[in-house]
Amino acid sequence: MRDEGHLSDALLRRAVRSLHSADQRADWVGAYLLDDEAGELWLHNYVGAPTEHAKIPVGQGVCGTAVEEGTNLNVPDVSEFEGYLSCNPDVKSELVVLIRAGETIYGQLDLDSHQPAAFAEADEAKVQAIADKLAEQLAREGN
Ligand code: SME
Repeated sequence: MRDEGHLSDALLRRAVRSLHSADQRADWVGAYLLDDEAGELWLHNYVGAPTEHAKIPVGQGVCGTAVEEGTNLNVPDVSEFEGYLSCNPDVKSELVVLIRAGETIYGQLDLDSHQPAAFAEADEAKVQAIADKLAEQLAREGN
């Protein structure tokens, strides 16, 4: 039985909090982890309004599509995204950045904004740098 906390838990929480406080446009920030066997993402932690999407099947919504396609997704207008899973009608744009090491996808960082087209390539790169650190730690823990 393993009952000590994982460093990755603390890092995932810290990443979410710092992304939220660093960017006024990020009204909601969360970290989802991938449960490969179940084929779904589960919400590890978040800052912002509560969401009903605590579990998202791979292939559904922006989050599940990012995993299925193995790519980050920057969606400037969520109303144009087929199958978009709405958490909150105020959300206009969304950025999903994968937490991955090589072929292994551990999960993702998800940022929602009430502003349309809130996120630029530079934002994606900043979030990616954090996601890459998280992936290193998750890999070290043998997740
Ligand atoms: N909009 C996401 C669901 C998660 S919420 O943004 C918190 C999606 O379409 O997958």
